Amino acid sequence: MSQVIEFAGINEQVENDDEFNSLLDISIHHKIPHLHECGGHGACTTCRVRILDGIYNCSPKTEIEKSTGFARKWDPSIRLACQTYPKGNVKLQRLIWSSAEVNQLQKELAPEGKAEERPIAIVFCDLRNFTGLSSENLNFDIAFMLNRFYTALGEPILMNNGIIYQYVGDEIVGVFGTTGGSKEKNCMDAIRAALGMQYALDLLNKTELKDFQVELKSGIGINFGNAYVGHLGHPTHRQFSVIGDPVNVASRIQGYTKVTGSKILISKSVFRCATKDALMVGNIYSADLAGKEEEIDLYDLVGFKDMDLQLELQASLHIILQDDITFAKLFYDTVFELAPIARSLFRSNMTDQGRLLTHMLGGIVYSLSRPEHLNSGLKKLGQSHVKYGVKAEHYPIVKQALMSAINQTLGDLKTERAMEAWSTALDFVMDAMQNWKSL
Ligand code: HEM
Ligand code: FES
Repeated sequence: MSQVIEFAGINEQVENDDEFNSLLDISIHHKIPHLHECGGHGACTTCRVRILDGIYNCSPKTEIEKSTGFARKWDPSIRLACQTYPKGNVKLQRLIWSSAEVNQLQKELAPEGKAEERPIAIVFCDLRNFTGLSSENLNFDIAFMLNRFYTALGEPILMNNGIIYQYVGDEIVGVFGTTGGSKEKNCMDAIRAALGMQYALDLLNKTELKDFQVELKSGIGINFGNAYVGHLGHPTHRQFSVIGDPVNVASRIQGYTKVTGSKILISKSVFRCATKDALMVGNIYSADLAGKEEEIDLYDLVGFKDMDLQLELQASLHIILQDDITFAKLFYDTVFELAPIARSLFRSNMTDQGRLLTHMLGGIVYSLSRPEHLNSGLKKLGQSHVKYGVKAEHYPIVKQALMSAINQTLGDLKTERAMEAWSTALDFVMDAMQNWKSL
């Protein structure tokens, strides 16, 4: 018997008459963007939904759902869409709308009412000359600039599996590794985020702020060490907290960039934990930081020695997805020009299809920093493509069309490195999709 599934928020109702369709399958079938990083294996929690009506029409929780819900302290109305099969009408709300929100979910895994020690990298980024800017510009313009600063520089934190921890005045603080992870990964994520912030600030100055006659500048300090993570505070108002000496030192390292005139300074502990030989560093300073008995070594971070795939993709993603409808149109026009026969594989409405494609491309770039889910997600996508009638010979055509759309969209902002990064990433994605049999 057919069921009605209602999506709150977008006011869409769809019908389902296949009992083997999970709530996630239903979204995908009806081209409703629904994050599912792990491809529906119950491992990532990004497909979570709140059941607003019809909870009794949902299949019982699977073991994986029970343990996930318990660890994250979910109330019973929250379900994993990939694990839930409707038996009657259901009204639901998707809870995670964008890949950028996914990292914040790490906070759910921090202990309640106490703190645990975890190896963390901390990034402090300060907007330079903010006081001068405030006196020279209208409040309205300052608010606009600050908002753009926070958004543009927050994104690289989120793209690299970090949490935007705090805004302190004109500072933005990111933390990496709050749920554990290796020292190397946490430090590399933080470093990539810091370099991404510089790219983002450059782009912001060249584009959205170009008419303000100001050039925003930043100073960034990064430290690594064991800090305490937990939800602390009054029992009715607990707050996600990261505390400890490494956090204070990161703030002081940021302050020290004003002494040295550096853009990014990293501590010796970050330098030591980072991937061997990956970093290009400049001057090394022996700094006497407040509260520290001994001087500590700080390194000017210049960049990566070699092209960094993730950083290049992240830096260009924003430009590519700025006008996702135009991008999708450019792409599909080229696909159908190169292979007119492919048109028949698609079930009409190319705008929705384009929205899904760009949603997915953005999701892939974000989830490169969470590779544990990415591979299974791509294989599942590849398996679905076999059912859509997609053949091996279609992949090079789609790659060519995507590269052409990326090339045209980046325009003057195109760099050889960005194009190389996209080409490598698409090969990786398409290989994983075609390797679905190893799921
Ligand atoms: C980078 C590689 C690709 C990505 C990221 C991608 C992404 C997607 C996504 C997200 C969907 C929505 C449905 C779902 O999630 O299962 C989709 C559907 C689809 N894709 Fe792809 N795709 C890729 C390659 C291809 C290729 C090579 C073809 C061949 C022409 C193709 C044809 C289709 C078709 C026919 C559908 C179903 C459309 C419909 O239901 O009307 N895709 N793709
Ligand atoms: S948990 Fe449902 S898609 Fe990952």
